[in-house]
Amino acid sequence: MFRIAVIAGDGIGPEVITEGLKVLRILEECDNLKFDMRELDIGATRYIESGKTLTQDDLDVLSEQDAIYFGAVGDPRVKPGILEREIILALRFYFDQFVNLRPVKSWVPGARLKSSKPFDIVFLRENTEDFYLGSGGFISPRSNSVSLAIVRSFYKLSLEISSSLSNDEELAFELGLLSKSGVTRFAEYALDMAKRRGQTKITVVDKANVCTNMYGLWRRVFSTLAEERDIDIEYVYVDAMCQALVKNPDKFNIVATPNMFGDILTDLVAEIQGSLGLACSGNINPNGVSMFEPVHGSAPDIAGRGIANPIGAILAAKLMLEFLGSDRLARKIEKAVEEVILKGIVTPDLGGYAKTSEVGDAIVESLLNM
Ligand code: NAI
Ligand code: MG
Repeated sequence: MFRIAVIAGDGIGPEVITEGLKVLRILEECDNLKFDMRELDIGATRYIESGKTLTQDDLDVLSEQDAIYFGAVGDPRVKPGILEREIILALRFYFDQFVNLRPVKSWVPGARLKSSKPFDIVFLRENTEDFYLGSGGFISPRSNSVSLAIVRSFYKLSLEISSSLSNDEELAFELGLLSKSGVTRFAEYALDMAKRRGQTKITVVDKANVCTNMYGLWRRVFSTLAEERDIDIEYVYVDAMCQALVKNPDKFNIVATPNMFGDILTDLVAEIQGSLGLACSGNINPNGVSMFEPVHGSAPDIAGRGIANPIGAILAAKLMLEFLGSDRLARKIEKAVEEVILKGIVTPDLGGYAKTSEVGDAIVESLLNM
């Protein structure tokens, strides 16, 4: 039995998670599997009604699960950043989910921008440091000191910044930071994945020509660990990587990126893949509670219309099964998704006319026929 916490969240989150749950329920019926699902009402509505984002009670319940299945949060009624930082980022940090795994491949024939060759890439995005620490502040004549506290599993850092400013300028900053231990565990995960898959090379993205301190450390760690494992590293600057992904996505296999660049690049490749609505991700702690979600957000512009593409959420369920050790079921879901896309039963983002629930039903149908 697998204990799964379900956080459907806001906007299209509940719409796509409903379809993912349909798929999991069918597998339960057909494959003698048992999921113990526990739904939590974390998200905008609860926040608006009670002021609560993530409570200790939520964290206690989530800590007892084998995995978390997450939709999306974000709501136009709530100031941007509150739900995103206090829920998604907070969960990733609390459970120390230090790898964000984002596989992308060419599902939709003809949807790729330039490359006519099929591609199949695993993006690994460091998920706890870099510019997404959630630490920063303001400096102005009225505010000449900032205290920051950063707590990660390897360290507790308190940083006192005192400033003296030449005029009445107002400044804002966001702190980017990498630790040697943080990069080490992430690089080990990426290189070990390459080894397991028989790859002799991985691509590592950064901007070491401009952010020389942070990505200098990043490169030093990657190079040392890669040499020990006899794996080649191809370093690519993030700007060049945008160009390369549009032009030749088939040239890449395993791509490791820092947190912020990974966030941006994976939306780009999601669209090259056909639609953001197809992309799935896993926030992984190999020794703890991992969380699986579509890459997209709550898409308020299409919420409530029944046209959201549920495939990203369904593939997130697939990724979750893979991590729970059910490779066979994961492959079944992937095959069913492939069949339904090829039949053209797709939502408007992929040029089709199907409703969210019709895509889910078609995938279930295809699973039943296997
Ligand atoms: P978004 O990913 O929600 O939407 C971007 C565009 O893609 C929109 O035009 C939307 O309609 C379309 N789209 C997204 N998912 C789709 C799907 N499944 N099917 C069809 N079309 C789809 O990003 P946006 O608009 O920047 O953010 C909306 C809210 O979601 C914000 O509050 C943001 O902070 C939050 N967000 C939450 C995330 C999470 O919970 N992990 C991730 C990204 C954004
Ligand atoms: Mg994003």
